[in-house]
Amino acid sequence: MRVVSLFSGLGGLDKGFMDTGYDIIWANDFDKFAVQTYKANFGDHIVSGDINEIPLEDIPDCDVLIGGFPCQPFSMMGQQKGFEDTRGTLFFRIAEIISDKIEKGRKPKVIILENVRSLTTHRNGETYGEIHRVLQDVLGYKVFRDILNSADFGVPQTRNRTYIVCFDNQTVNYIFPKTQELHKTLQDLLEHDVDSKYYLSDRILPTILSNGTGGYQAKSEIDLKIARPLCATMAKMHRACQDNYVTQNGRIRRLTPRECARLQGFDDSFVIPVSDCQAYKQFGNAVTVNVSRAVAQSVKDTLKELGEWVD
Ligand SMILES: C[S@@+](CC[C@H](N)C(=O)[O-])C[C@H]1O[C@@H](n2cnc3c(N)ncnc32)[C@H](O)[C@@H]1O
Repeated sequence: MRVVSLFSGLGGLDKGFMDTGYDIIWANDFDKFAVQTYKANFGDHIVSGDINEIPLEDIPDCDVLIGGFPCQPFSMMGQQKGFEDTRGTLFFRIAEIISDKIEKGRKPKVIILENVRSLTTHRNGETYGEIHRVLQDVLGYKVFRDILNSADFGVPQTRNRTYIVCFDNQTVNYIFPKTQELHKTLQDLLEHDVDSKYYLSDRILPTILSNGTGGYQAKSEIDLKIARPLCATMAKMHRACQDNYVTQNGRIRRLTPRECARLQGFDDSFVIPVSDCQAYKQFGNAVTVNVSRAVAQSVKDTLKELGEWVD
């Protein structure tokens, strides 16, 4: 199955599909550091550049189109500007790309999109309603949506995300993947001998451990068994009500990029060629590989049942 991947980042969503036998023929991101990580692990089929500026004819035809489009405008932590923010309109670029394929008689069989959980509640559901309407009524897909939590797919991270799976085939009854029991804790994923730079200084400790204030009020807690959601801005070290901190050797520290990789389902063969700051951003942005793999497998099973799977 030929897959085009948009907003690929370091390739979390892509890896789940590759692991399941899909062929990613073309990927794109405009963050040169994310492209660097992607290339170091998956190859040169990723193109660096703003998707709004890449000519439609440069995007190859495909059977499946996947994309975790930028979530900031929809997330609870952003300012909830939705489509008013230009990043929110990136969904419409996806729609434009699909529409162009349809006009040329090369409609993708399946579209898989990922976004933050609050996409569905943003503006009392109006934002998601518009996305659903475009996918169903304008582009002619049968649309399925669910919220999947990474902790239900084998990794100790609470990460609820909206998954939208769309089939061109109108007879399909797609079922999202079954959840699995969790057998690991965050502590099982920790490195044992980490650089001293990851430990918190006495000066910063009281701020990190204080409860949230203002718009983000929450209780500070460290040493969670199931990690809080990794976020793209975790390099800034938010308080312990928002980021993950653990006790090791009697001291408190942040997570290392390798631990973030593990919490997103990447094994230790995954190469991290960028700075810590870029790595935190990329892992915080990524789709958990385990969830992607489960979705990719369920879509593959459905396509096989329909007789539409091509090796
Ligand atoms: C939520 S992340 C996607 C993560 C990815 N799906 C993964 O699993 O690793 C969104 C990505 O969209 C990229 N992006 C945002 N605006 C873009 C644009 N106009 N053109 C290309 N990429 C863009 C960002 O650089 C970021 O890597």
